[in-house]
Amino acid sequence: MEILRIEHLSKQYGQGESAVKALDDISFSVQKGEFVAIIGPSGSGKSTLLHMLGGVDRPTSGNVYVEGTDMYTLDETQLAIFRRRQIGLIYQFFNLIPVLTVEENMTLPLLLDKQKVDPKQLDVLVQTLNLQHRLNHLPNQLSGGQQQRVSIGRALISNPAIMLADEPTGNLDSKNSKEIVDLLQMLNKTYQQTLLVITHDERIALQADRVISIEDGRIARDEVIRP
Ligand SMILES: Nc1ncnc2c1ncn2[C@@H]1O[C@H](COP(=O)(O)OP(=O)(O)OP(=O)(O)O)[C@@H](O)[C@H]1O
Ligand SMILES: [Mg+2]
Repeated sequence: MEILRIEHLSKQYGQGESAVKALDDISFSVQKGEFVAIIGPSGSGKSTLLHMLGGVDRPTSGNVYVEGTDMYTLDETQLAIFRRRQIGLIYQFFNLIPVLTVEENMTLPLLLDKQKVDPKQLDVLVQTLNLQHRLNHLPNQLSGGQQQRVSIGRALISNPAIMLADEPTGNLDSKNSKEIVDLLQMLNKTYQQTLLVITHDERIALQADRVISIEDGRIARDEVIRP
């Protein structure tokens, strides 16, 4: 089943002399349960692509369909709700809210969406992420790996259609990186979570089903590793 389709996506930053074409006519589609690694040199447009897929910033032209919804036909309010429900975003520097506990950070998307927390679902997620002894801690009382697990929990709490990660291990030592890679792999295999992960980390790229290389805002290669 196709879960994500990108058609002729382009993004230009700025105007005139200072204009930068960060994405230049990108098209591809992703099936449910695929684990896609996105690689490419610095400045090639990887983060820009993720932002367009995540509804963080609007493209200059082109379409992004998530489970059939043409995301950029939505107005700002609808887009914010759609993002919160359908897209889980993970960043290199975790982006947790420092004054909220682990549990509050994880359940924030539901709160913002005026939805109830299902205690059973939260419990399963907390166990999966091995955070059961950290629920009342603040982010600065956690290791980098634990903080990233909280941000993965926050991304997963609304059962998103797709999970997007921008260098999720970029700020972690090798032991914590391995834990996060194993966790992403498990979420993909056990729960068929669709994953798109930007990475310089070979271990992640090797776990993926498919590797898309971006160069100069275009797809240079799109290779299926595991069908
Ligand atoms: N907000 C912005 N305004 C202007 N130009 C931008 C903006 N964001 C990115 N760019 C430019 O767009 C191009 C693509 O940037 P992007 O951040 O997507 O690259 P990247 O592949 O993620 O690089 P890295 O591996 O270093 O994170 C770069 O030339 C960058 O300078
Ligand atoms: Mg980037």
